[in-house]
Amino acid sequence: MYPAEPVTETEELAQIEQSALRDVSSASTLDDLAAARVRHTGRRSRLAEILGSIGSLAAVRRGEVGRAANLARRAIESALDARQKALDEEELGARLAEDAADVTLPGDPHPIGALHLVHQIRLEIEDIFLALGYEIADGPEVETGYHNFTALNMPEGHPARSLTDTFFVDGHPDRALRSQTSPVQIRVLERRDPPVYVIAPGAVYRRDDVDATHSPMFHQLEGLAVDRDLTMAHLKGTLLHLVRELIGDHEVRLHPDFFPFTEPSVQVQVRWADRHGTARWLELLGAGMVDPNVLRACDVDPERWQGFAFGAGLDRLAMVRHGVPDLRLLFESDLRFLEQFR
Ligand code: DAH
Repeated sequence: MYPAEPVTETEELAQIEQSALRDVSSASTLDDLAAARVRHTGRRSRLAEILGSIGSLAAVRRGEVGRAANLARRAIESALDARQKALDEEELGARLAEDAADVTLPGDPHPIGALHLVHQIRLEIEDIFLALGYEIADGPEVETGYHNFTALNMPEGHPARSLTDTFFVDGHPDRALRSQTSPVQIRVLERRDPPVYVIAPGAVYRRDDVDATHSPMFHQLEGLAVDRDLTMAHLKGTLLHLVRELIGDHEVRLHPDFFPFTEPSVQVQVRWADRHGTARWLELLGAGMVDPNVLRACDVDPERWQGFAFGAGLDRLAMVRHGVPDLRLLFESDLRFLEQFR
């Protein structure tokens, strides 16, 4: 049933107020509320029309209608304001809830880096020798022919000095990428007097990448001890200790070999079961007693001082230790490979 036609402005104002309050309380968004505000209090609303017409009413009715209209307007406006405040708060609450960080969620995983396999083995070997009282020495990767060859008893014309074996620097016939870490022996003995116990790890370069066990850049670890009365027994004991610490209790033997800078020279071999379980002798490193010519080149009197030296391939040691089948895997930066050795 529809409400009866209002008879007086006062009655109509009561209806306007009721319908406005209904709209205001059912407005569920700020947009709804803004529309209700325009509809019920805007310039073209019925309320505005009544307020505007008061002046033209008969004088006796002006007071009554004017009061009723102002009361209705105030009631509607205060309902609008209260609803506005509630909706503002609701909206703010919703936005805060949406933006809130859930501190109980697991964080975004951050990839954690790890040391490269070759670096790991280098640190392990450094620790082993530091514990024996050795120091760590360093030398340049671009070397002189004198340090890389001549002083190491490899005179002009030695096959290792050929252009096909070594990277020489264009326009500088006496500069080459070091082909071994042995020149650090010379640099150490030039700088200081014996007794000397040093190791020198680092990159070396050779012009060969013929198969899976060669790369034009690889890593070596040099060792040099110069003291009074050093013998092969000291060399053997030191290297046995290294092998045991590094790969455990394996049968080790010294096999005769030749290096220009040691006399006598040996190759350290370890009895090693390959991936198929077949045991064989595997070359681990070269070593020997420092050749008197090397000591003389560094102004060290070979009648008073003896030394032993050794040079190991760090990459080779890492391969043996972890059963890596191809040396080149170590230099390809393939994370699927590297991540296995974290
Ligand atoms: N420098 C040798 C090489 O590159 C390795 C080596 C062998 C180093 C015997 C030594 C040594 O100090 O005594 O193959």
